[in-house]
Amino acid sequence: MDAREIGGLVDSATGYQSRRLYHDPEIYQLELQRVFARSWLFLTHESLIAGAGDFQTALMGEDRVLVVRQTDGSIRAFINSCQHRGNVLCHADSGTARAFTCNYHGWSYALDGSLAAAPLEAEVYRGQLPKAQLGLIPVPRIASYKGLVFGCFDQTAPSLTDYLGPMTWYLDTYLDAVPGGTEFLGGPMKYRVPCNWKLPAENFAGDGYHVGWTHAAALAIGARDNVVGSMRGNSEQNVVATGGLHVATRHGHGFSLLEDGYSGIALYDQPEVMAAWLTENRPLVRERLGDRRAQFFGSHCNLNLFPHFSALPMGLNSFRVWHPRGPDEIEVWIWALAYRQMPAEVKAAIRHAHMKTFGIAGLLEGDDTENVQYATDACRGYVTRSHPVYCGMALSRGGPHPELPGTVHEGAIAEIAQRNFYGFWQQLMTASDWSALDAAPVDASLAGGNA
Ligand code: FES
Ligand code: FE
Repeated sequence: MDAREIGGLVDSATGYQSRRLYHDPEIYQLELQRVFARSWLFLTHESLIAGAGDFQTALMGEDRVLVVRQTDGSIRAFINSCQHRGNVLCHADSGTARAFTCNYHGWSYALDGSLAAAPLEAEVYRGQLPKAQLGLIPVPRIASYKGLVFGCFDQTAPSLTDYLGPMTWYLDTYLDAVPGGTEFLGGPMKYRVPCNWKLPAENFAGDGYHVGWTHAAALAIGARDNVVGSMRGNSEQNVVATGGLHVATRHGHGFSLLEDGYSGIALYDQPEVMAAWLTENRPLVRERLGDRRAQFFGSHCNLNLFPHFSALPMGLNSFRVWHPRGPDEIEVWIWALAYRQMPAEVKAAIRHAHMKTFGIAGLLEGDDTENVQYATDACRGYVTRSHPVYCGMALSRGGPHPELPGTVHEGAIAEIAQRNFYGFWQQLMTASDWSALDAAPVDASLAGGNA
């Protein structure tokens, strides 16, 4: 598949894009090489590997990795495949280890990835085992952003901070709101969905459009009838249609916000517990982050860090990765985030609300899963796949904002962030390397923005 063919898959100027994006095995193989082996990918939260020897297993594309806290406090990651016959070295999701021993022939690796021992080494290798060359394959770049740990295989990619770019301003609203930082409350929960990874990722990048329809029943249960009503055009409080923000930043990241106060909290069994904590802490947030972001704090929002790390950071506190497991299958890994300094009863309320809404069997999780699954399935049809889909909402709208970084659209419903996602995807898929990438937004409607 050459650059011209990839160039024909997405037309950012009109919003039309090919249905092949969602099922084509050739595109998928190229994505593993050009998207996942080049981008910064989320691995874990520092709180889950706090002590020496603590580890988490993770995926980078379809490459299994092992993320390990070192004895000097640093974090390293290695390909989770034994150097002898390639067996999965560590089968556990997480734990604390002094060494990692393969269950096939018993080769044993130290925390730093070096090959420490092989059974019967003297007798069977007789001094010919090149141990120094047989350490685990390292992930060459590891970096953290305010507790979130990322890895990158590409030495030419920008630093993590540059990669995240102006999106850090929005991320800080949640990661840096109060002193002491954040933690993940255990996890992850994992399950598989027969869908292409890009569909849920672009949904979280900025699909405010589906909220009132897809989630109508769940939101009605959760007293969000103002949202449902607004989508049906019969509400005074047209929160979703006219309120909030929709933001695209360079490198394909997206963020949107319903600026309506304690939204997700309406879905808690005990909303007063979370609301009280937010009210108590809002002055502190204002002091740290300023008026505008203190206003954001407490309002429902969603974001996607390209390619596939998504969050509903406020209220529902859900963080997730859409790991690709083939052109039409993903493994979803989900964690709940809390602030370290929160009292135990607030953390318990978050954990409970998260399970109820965006846990594997959550009220809202299933709504989204059904859509992305059937979108993938329908786009496979022989005749169907020869016709494009349309992602052209708010073409030529959105632009620079006096206060807010990125390309900003007033109102949560737009498809600027989605076009930014697919536009950057297209750039990565066609560029020979990072130095050839134009960091400017590719969407014509973003022209003039400060993304
Ligand atoms: Fe791991 Fe043989 S495959 S020791
Ligand atoms: Fe949804």
